[in-house]
Amino acid sequence: MDTIQSYIKANKDRFINELVELLKIPSISADSNYKNEVLNTAQAVKLSLERAGCERVEICETDGHPIVYGEKIIHTDLPTVLVYGHYDVQPPDPLDLWHSPPFEPVIQTTDKHPEGAIFARGASDDKGQMFMHVKAMELMTSTNQLPCNVKFMIEGEEEVGSSNLSIFVKNHREKLKNDVILISDTGMIANDTPSITTGLRGLSYVEVEVTGPNRDLHSGLYGGAVANPINILSKMIASMHDENNHITIPGFYDKVEELSDMERAEMAKAPFNLENYKKALNIDAVHGEAGYSTHERTSIRPTLDVNGIWGGYTGEGAKTVIPSKAYAKISMRLVPHQNWEEITRLFTAYFERIAPKGVTVKVSPHHGGQGYVTPIDHIGYQAASKAYTDTFGKTPIPQRSGGSIPIVSLFEKELKSKTILMGFGLDSDAIHSPNEHFGIFNFLKGIETIPLFFKYFTQLSKE
Ligand code: BES
Ligand code: MN
Ligand code: MN
Repeated sequence: MDTIQSYIKANKDRFINELVELLKIPSISADSNYKNEVLNTAQAVKLSLERAGCERVEICETDGHPIVYGEKIIHTDLPTVLVYGHYDVQPPDPLDLWHSPPFEPVIQTTDKHPEGAIFARGASDDKGQMFMHVKAMELMTSTNQLPCNVKFMIEGEEEVGSSNLSIFVKNHREKLKNDVILISDTGMIANDTPSITTGLRGLSYVEVEVTGPNRDLHSGLYGGAVANPINILSKMIASMHDENNHITIPGFYDKVEELSDMERAEMAKAPFNLENYKKALNIDAVHGEAGYSTHERTSIRPTLDVNGIWGGYTGEGAKTVIPSKAYAKISMRLVPHQNWEEITRLFTAYFERIAPKGVTVKVSPHHGGQGYVTPIDHIGYQAASKAYTDTFGKTPIPQRSGGSIPIVSLFEKELKSKTILMGFGLDSDAIHSPNEHFGIFNFLKGIETIPLFFKYFTQLSKE
């Protein structure tokens, strides 16, 4: 057995226990009640980086939650890998759907994870995946095989849009200088079908408010005579897709990158079973843009989805009321070349234009970001591919993902480097959902694969 495998074998129980401890801290970035817990998590991450052999480890204050930075510079002639991850997590609700409390990790086996999986909020997104890098670093420094320079930047605001990290990156270009950025915050196809994420979608997120009468009204006395904001909002939202599920906002598709038939044929080779997909979600049919496969709909095509809608009376029993206001949160997933700020403007103009007389509307943009693509001829991709081939015994499949990590395109713009997305999660990990989990197999495979990425990247950099 080689040193990587024997180190993991000898230390895996400790690795798992340390991750369990990290998962116990509820680092919910969206909820200000958890500010201290987020800070405590940053401190725990700092300590773990120091123990893994990083130097100059610091907690960098921001206007929001802090960023943890650490590095190990061996020699300025060697390449530098910047590892990015996030220690913040999504809110865990709805709590009653969890089989065990979200911040009391338990290990249980599942069909997909006969070796067991850790169930906790953040297990896969992203504490578990981020921690693979910390343990891989520990492995490389303790076994004397760190081949190049490393910088770690672990933030606490990814789940709320990374706006303070953007400022930090712009202000610390020299400190963050690197040859490649490495992130494990995505997934792969299956445990026996490794894949490397080569694309992320962009995002535009807005909140809309529709106001009708100046107060809630009796729905008998006024019903039928004034615009009901919820009725109107529902109709406006419904009109944003046509009968082919194309988005109707003028100009929305103007910059969308159209893939060639060859590229689409290449994509279609990735294994995908529609029946299993439907079964896993308990749905009798998929639904989406005409002319595109399910996989294309979730990767190379943009979307518009309502994430939440409310207004009027939603309490127990019935209340006969025409509400004064209706609200919705809407996200648009974007593909390369669509500019998120332009899409936000197009949405706003269209939403204002289709609002009928009798209501007023307000659109408030939240966060957003650009999509991203990694070219597979980049040496970082090749190094990752070689690393997976060694540890999985199969060449990984390049695959674009439907999710977003908006900071990645900003890294490219500000730091001029490409990002390699070595994700070890599965779609079935239930990230952002109740019962999020991360396979022990995936966690350990990540720790095994990462040092090989470092080795191959350093080798390919010399060529
Ligand atoms: N790690 C995810 C993104 C992801 C997951 C990409 C799986 C690809 C595969 C990340 O933490 C996330 O949730 N991003 C948000 C965007 C952010 C601005 C809140 C998303 O995609 O909704
Ligand atoms: Mn994430
Ligand atoms: Mn997330």
